[in-house]
Amino acid sequence: MALSSTSARHGVIPAIQTVIRMMQRPVGEIVPGKDLVASQEPTPTVVGNDQVLLQRLYLSLDPAMRGWMRDIPSYMPPVQVGAVMRGYTISQVVVAADGSQSGRFQVGDIVVDNSMVGGWDQYAVVPAKKCSKLPMLDNNIPMTAHLSVLGLTGMTAYFGLMKVGKPQPGETILVSAAAGATGSVVAQIAKNVVGCKVVGIAGGPQKCQWLLDQVGCDAVIDYKLANGDGRKFQKQLQQALKQVDSKGYDIFFDNVGGFILNETLRRLNLRGRVVLCGAISGYNVEDQRSTQVVPPTNYMALISLRAKIEGFIVTDYVREYKEAKRQMAEWIAQGKIKYKEDVREGLEQAPEHLKSLFNGGNTGKLIVKVGEPMTGTTMHRSKL
Ligand SMILES: NC(=O)c1ccc[n+]([C@@H]2O[C@H](COP(=O)([O-])OP(=O)(O)OC[C@H]3O[C@@H](n4cnc5c(N)ncnc54)[C@H](OP(=O)(O)O)[C@@H]3O)[C@@H](O)[C@H]2O)c1
Repeated sequence: MALSSTSARHGVIPAIQTVIRMMQRPVGEIVPGKDLVASQEPTPTVVGNDQVLLQRLYLSLDPAMRGWMRDIPSYMPPVQVGAVMRGYTISQVVVAADGSQSGRFQVGDIVVDNSMVGGWDQYAVVPAKKCSKLPMLDNNIPMTAHLSVLGLTGMTAYFGLMKVGKPQPGETILVSAAAGATGSVVAQIAKNVVGCKVVGIAGGPQKCQWLLDQVGCDAVIDYKLANGDGRKFQKQLQQALKQVDSKGYDIFFDNVGGFILNETLRRLNLRGRVVLCGAISGYNVEDQRSTQVVPPTNYMALISLRAKIEGFIVTDYVREYKEAKRQMAEWIAQGKIKYKEDVREGLEQAPEHLKSLFNGGNTGKLIVKVGEPMTGTTMHRSKL
């Protein structure tokens, strides 16, 4: 189906759109305008059988994007140089072509695009089978929640904690990047659902206060005060553990790696568990053997403590997402989990916003608002 800029059933699609491409692989920190470059390009007009034309509404910004920009195969292939940058989005169907797959959609449907091709664009043609209708929730949860607490970071918190950490009531848990999208949900499930004592680790007094006041952490550590000094950090850790009446901790949900991981290993309890969720402190370092990456030299503590350190990837649990989302929605409705979103405006600024994840400029889930839903259309959704 070929469209002219004005022929679409739903109204006008602009002939030109903003697209952000990865024009070179970053070395160290991402440089907007060099590594990630915005350009004005023709909006796609040909929508083939079983395809849909999507308008992007919200783009999720994730630390994993830095990994996708490396020329190293991981759990997902690297983004190719010159390609539209990859990202998870919430989008709206603006054209559904013929075909059994696209027949599942109507103009106006709000979908999650799981194609993982592009995302940093305003419009894209994608296979209809890669899209799923956004579930309608009973309460007043906004659609952005499907990129945050009910999206990948919420699922990461849920499965990493419950399936890998396996918390028990009364245990003590440390969470790094605790004021972030994943960490703040981990802290609340641990505290309000399981009944753990929670120590949050974050950068700066404001985030630490927010963790105490809003997230409900029992104690906090502002890791920036230690400034990379192991002895100072040990003192902070000791003090925080004393505050929660624990000698050591049972679970460390680690989003950060490096110095913080290494120092915390020394305070693990017998049969403790370290959940390796992420290691953002090292994502901008090209040579992982360089001295910029602090190796976990304290790992020998794990032997006598019969402790465990285990990584995971959230997508391993994709078959269980539906039930986990239903459970999370229930906890939200019960007031056990609150979530914070940091929604920024405009796709063109997305490369600059992405940097916030690496300098602590975000609190809660970082999302970019790319477009407004079409007026005069019903936002059809399915049931969760
Ligand atoms: N395993 C999986 O399947 C999976 C899935 C999704 C995400 N993840 C991982 O989960 C982690 C959190 O992701 P998110 O999306 O929720 O991001 P986020 O926590 O919302 O944002 C990242 C936070 O990391 C902290 N940070 C950045 N550089 C740091 C450093 N050098 N040292 C200490 N803290 C630093 C910053 O907080 P401060 O201001 O407190 O420093 C920043 O706000 C990441 O490591 C990500 O890769 C893993």
